[in-house]
Amino acid sequence: MDCEGLAKQWLSAAFEAVVPGCGGGKVVPSKDTRFGDWQCNDAMGIAKRAGKNPRALAEEVIKALPLPEILEKVEVAGPGFINLTLSNRALAAGVESLSDDPHLGIPQSGANEKVVIDYSSPNVAKPMHIGHIRSTVIGNAIDRILRALGYLVIADNHLGDWGTQFGILIMGYRRFLTDDERANLTVELLEKVYVQSYNATKEDPVWLDTCREELVKLQAGDEENLAVWKRFIDISLGEFGRIYDRLDVSFNLYRGESYYQPMLEPVVETLKEKGLATLSDGAWIVDMKDEGLEVAIVRKRDGGFNYTSTDIATVKSRTEEFDPARIIYVTDDRQQLHFKQFFAICNKLGFCTKAALQHVPFGLMRLPEGTFSTRQGNVIKLETLLDEAAARARKIVDESHPDWTEEARAALAEAIGIGAIKYADLSHDPATMIVFTWERALALEGNSGPYLQYANARLNSLLARYYAETGRKPKDNPLFITGDAEKALALHLLQYPNAVQRAGDLCKPSVLADYLYQLSQLYSSFYQSSPVLKADLAVRDCRIRLCDAVSKVLRGGLNLLGIPTPERI
Ligand code: ARG
Repeated sequence: MDCEGLAKQWLSAAFEAVVPGCGGGKVVPSKDTRFGDWQCNDAMGIAKRAGKNPRALAEEVIKALPLPEILEKVEVAGPGFINLTLSNRALAAGVESLSDDPHLGIPQSGANEKVVIDYSSPNVAKPMHIGHIRSTVIGNAIDRILRALGYLVIADNHLGDWGTQFGILIMGYRRFLTDDERANLTVELLEKVYVQSYNATKEDPVWLDTCREELVKLQAGDEENLAVWKRFIDISLGEFGRIYDRLDVSFNLYRGESYYQPMLEPVVETLKEKGLATLSDGAWIVDMKDEGLEVAIVRKRDGGFNYTSTDIATVKSRTEEFDPARIIYVTDDRQQLHFKQFFAICNKLGFCTKAALQHVPFGLMRLPEGTFSTRQGNVIKLETLLDEAAARARKIVDESHPDWTEEARAALAEAIGIGAIKYADLSHDPATMIVFTWERALALEGNSGPYLQYANARLNSLLARYYAETGRKPKDNPLFITGDAEKALALHLLQYPNAVQRAGDLCKPSVLADYLYQLSQLYSSFYQSSPVLKADLAVRDCRIRLCDAVSKVLRGGLNLLGIPTPERI
């Protein structure tokens, strides 16, 4: 068990000895480390309930059992706070075992549990725009964090590959493209003809009818239309794939909405049989007044199904096939009502007795006016944003490494650019909206991706220099904690497993980003106050062991956020 676990265990036993069944003994990192490393605030509440004096109770608790070896001292302060100070020996041992553990102490709390994460999920035949970046980046970080906690993650890209737009698209494709354009099809062309064809439906009723007919043919399995539709998907997946490669994102499944089409009719039938769906104005709806929600349509007046019916069928299919403990959806917060509605319907249907359905809504990312211009002037495409990031990072790299090869400079610029964008996103609570600025995202100082990447690269070179000078591996050295800066750093290292667990439980990668930023700040104060390579040999050897642990945690943590960690910057 780790130090914190042991401290809790001792304190809980002590509370139990004094007030049986009270459940006290929770410890949290101290707000003010001058008084201790951790504190327990339970005595106040328990004393109140037991009609005791809180300070006297706290005193009684800390004397109830002999102090365990891991603690140096335990004191009562103020109205009854219990302050615990860890022994330096235990702290050092804790850091040693964390850094020797292949999981870096991360509890395998998700072992044997499956989780489905539905993220990115762009719509076919449309370019991914800046709004999709958050779903992809946040979803992928949650994916990585849950895998690190031992979960069996099924990352599913729920492509928007079905719907009424395909009739319009097929017509646009046939009538507005040249042979040459059809042969060299791109998502950009598809988007263009979609708009043209859509406008034509507004002006020309015959056009509208033809689009409807083409859609009906597609839905009925017409071979020619199916082939065109598949082509749209292939072209889109090719372009999305390029972006996923750049972002180092991969999925276990690409199951678009079309996959669930055969299941829609039976799902709506079940809703009718159970008396949950009723006919209203020709459409089938589920009344959700009892949930305080608006009515949800599950089958439209024209007989078509919709986003809601598709998502209900998707839950059914996923639960039957995978029996997951959680199904997590990462989308922008404008879809909140949709998720509340179909979650409630799934509950009514009893589809998810085990699976917890969880929506992780995020606010939009926007650029301050005028910083970014697109030819179209409105929607910012994800790929353009990534290109711009790499180009800006390239300027920094060119200045600092004029002697590097073209290839090496391009690779580093890409890593910094992608890292900057990802971190600018992940360092905010997903629920908040972000105003993205290049200055902040690419800053080498402050809470930015490049700052953390730089800290990691500096640690690498420190460790490499140590190895070159001594031929020793840090792991062979014992760790002793002497100064305050070392102690603060070591205590923070011990919090890593907690940070990862919390980030995973809350689906907030920002918890981990905050943790890593603090770690690099603590490291930087340690490094300023405590020489490493120039210190006395014994001190040097033990400090490098601590640096090695920081390096492992920083690299491991950045990896869980999906942020590249170039060796040298
Ligand atoms: N395709 C949708 C969009 O671009 C997101 C789908 C999210 N997943 C889901 N199961 N509803 O907005």
